[in-house]
Amino acid sequence: MIVKNLKLKNYRNYKDISISFAPGLNVLVGDNAQGKTNLVEAIFLCAIGKSLRTNKDKDLILWNTDYSKIDLTVEKVNRKTISLYLFPNQNKAIKINNIPIKKMGELMGEFNAVYFCPDELKLIKDSPQERRRFMDIDLSQFDKNYFYALSKYNKILLQRNKLLKSTTSFDVLKDTLSIWDEQLAKVGSYIIYERIKFVENLKKFAHDIHLELTNNKENLTLEYVGILGDTVQDIKDSMIMSLTKNIQKDWELGYTTVGPHRDDIKICINDIDVRYYGSQGQQRTSALSLKLAELEIFYHSLGQYPVLLLDDVLSELDQNRQLALLKRVSKMQTILTCTDFDFSIPYTRYEISNGTVKNVK
Ligand SMILES: Nc1ncnc2c1ncn2[C@@H]1O[C@H](COP(=O)(O)OP(=O)(O)OP(=O)(O)O)[C@@H](O)[C@H]1O
Ligand SMILES: [Mg+2]
Repeated sequence: MIVKNLKLKNYRNYKDISISFAPGLNVLVGDNAQGKTNLVEAIFLCAIGKSLRTNKDKDLILWNTDYSKIDLTVEKVNRKTISLYLFPNQNKAIKINNIPIKKMGELMGEFNAVYFCPDELKLIKDSPQERRRFMDIDLSQFDKNYFYALSKYNKILLQRNKLLKSTTSFDVLKDTLSIWDEQLAKVGSYIIYERIKFVENLKKFAHDIHLELTNNKENLTLEYVGILGDTVQDIKDSMIMSLTKNIQKDWELGYTTVGPHRDDIKICINDIDVRYYGSQGQQRTSALSLKLAELEIFYHSLGQYPVLLLDDVLSELDQNRQLALLKRVSKMQTILTCTDFDFSIPYTRYEISNGTVKNVK
């Protein structure tokens, strides 16, 4: 998968630019606040339909203008152009090869990318929500059905939580909830099943990469934390049981305490939970192992590497980790941002200055 060209119109601090990318390593160099992250953000927006920095499309539109447009031309098997139109007060419109899509899910998998920024080095330390997001972003790119299931799950969950808050009689609640719980468990069990498979696959790659990064010293293991089971049906049955068992508690709290929206990945080094007991260095290296394993998972699931977007991460890593990361970069198209690039590997250089891009090599 490669990005051929990106056009931005009124996007963040870009008025009107067009930039063509090389198949290998593309390095965007520029001082702070020139537009490096904005550019990478625009590319990733075409993969998952939303920004990781804001929920409001309005923030993405160049100040004092009333719309923004992104055109990303990518090549997977064939060449295609993904176009996003952003408006301040209405939903974004998306076209693929000039044909409008009706649902956001149709965008999933059209363009595969992995985004890596310094924040992700906190993946281990962060709350479970970030690790769920990590799984959900990838699984949605692998399979549109996962994305649809996730939005359906969130809608049912919202209804269930509303009911928990608004029902005053516990007996009435118990009767009404059983219908919702059946639906919640049906979708929830599929989500959990896919996530368990994902973690199982990720585990193998992350383990080997982590050994390499730590000179064979650290044994990294991953484990899905939540309702478990070997089949979707097993998981569904356990989930219904758990939901039923926790009705009283959920009613008192006013929200649902079991299900995939509460799950996590447990990450251990030599059997010790890194989130709680790992040193800062161990936590960051484990996060790097997870991100590098993520690239392999794409290859494993889709038969090709995604486009790798590295926003300012090199400056956060020591030399050994930088080299481990750059070693992998040669396998896939990479778009990397930094304030200064000083490595003797082949690359195409772009200079970013105040919302303009100049290809210099
Ligand atoms: N909607 C917008 N309209 C115009 N400018 C914007 C908008 N949103 C953000 N900006 C500006 O874009 C500029 C560049 O931001 P960006 O995050 O891309 O910088 P950067 O080159 O990645 O810098 P750093 O090296 O510090 O990470 C910022 O100065 C910011 O104020
Ligand atoms: Mg930046």
